Amino acid sequence: MEKTKSRILKELRQRDDYLSGQELCQQLGISRTAVWKNIKALQGEGYEIEAVQNRGYRLRKVPDVISAPELESIVNTQWVGKNVHFKYETDSTNLWAKQLAEQGAPAGTVVVAERQTKGRGRRGRTWVSSEGQNIYMTLLLRPEIQPQDAPMVTLLMGLSVAQGVEKATGLCPGIKWPNDVVLDGKKICGILTEMSVQAEYMDYVVVGPGINVNQTDFPQELSDKATSLRLQAGRAFRRVEVAAAVLEAFEKNLEIFLETCDLTGLQEQYNHILLNMNQEVRILDKDSERTGIARGINNRGELLVEYPGGKTEAVFAGEVSVRGLYSYV
Ligand code: BTN
Repeated sequence: MEKTKSRILKELRQRDDYLSGQELCQQLGISRTAVWKNIKALQGEGYEIEAVQNRGYRLRKVPDVISAPELESIVNTQWVGKNVHFKYETDSTNLWAKQLAEQGAPAGTVVVAERQTKGRGRRGRTWVSSEGQNIYMTLLLRPEIQPQDAPMVTLLMGLSVAQGVEKATGLCPGIKWPNDVVLDGKKICGILTEMSVQAEYMDYVVVGPGINVNQTDFPQELSDKATSLRLQAGRAFRRVEVAAAVLEAFEKNLEIFLETCDLTGLQEQYNHILLNMNQEVRILDKDSERTGIARGINNRGELLVEYPGGKTEAVFAGEVSVRGLYSYV
């Protein structure tokens, strides 16, 4: 039923005028009763679909939902986001995507939830996931890359979120290396990437962005570090449009990445919006701390840091944290 709903929404969206029941039946290869049942179901989910005798159906208003039919019917890609799984509530979309991966779900599968009970952040932290306002989604990939190349996929997603947000909202986010997406010095998106390797070969990668879209209240401990698109723009956005724009950007960026299996083709765009660029940064690793000037990423996604005296080090995301000298960025 979800796939039929996606197709009905897609057909209705392509038409400014009424679309006859007859035409819908033919396009979808289903009966009039089946069309009617699906239209009823969509209306029950908050879609305003006008039904006029002898003219057909017309989509009047869509709710701010990020369901499978909504996302599938809007995303303009070849393979990413064509197979969407939605649950109102899940523990973590990354955990769920990994389960689907183990069951053989195809590359490009996307899972989305309105709410996560165990949203997971990097370094074992939790990701607070209040309901109905933000995007919690995870994309499953089965790329033919070496396991050591997987961290670059996170940078790809960071770049794609920044580009997708700009396209869908007009806001222009920057990136705090390696992959926090930031507006006005505060984080709007974090990304958690996990992988499964079988006998040294990449089995799958799941990459999960959490994007703060319409949230207006943040817990005290986050309010000086986190913001949302709504707080920045002064208006709410349809989450599905942001999610679709991110997936569209990701599909294009991944294709460029796979040409060389590194970030050669994307490094310039990434460095252009890198907030740390030419800024003083503090590099923290397990047992030391040092300060230098960030000079952008190389084609492996490592941050080039220049130290007093001119020596440059390429730092790897998994091993260090980077902080601005006076603020989060
Ligand atoms: C970070 O610590 O910055 C990463 C946060 C990642 C949160 C997202 S929300 C969707 C996906 N599912 C999770 O459990 N985590 C990621």
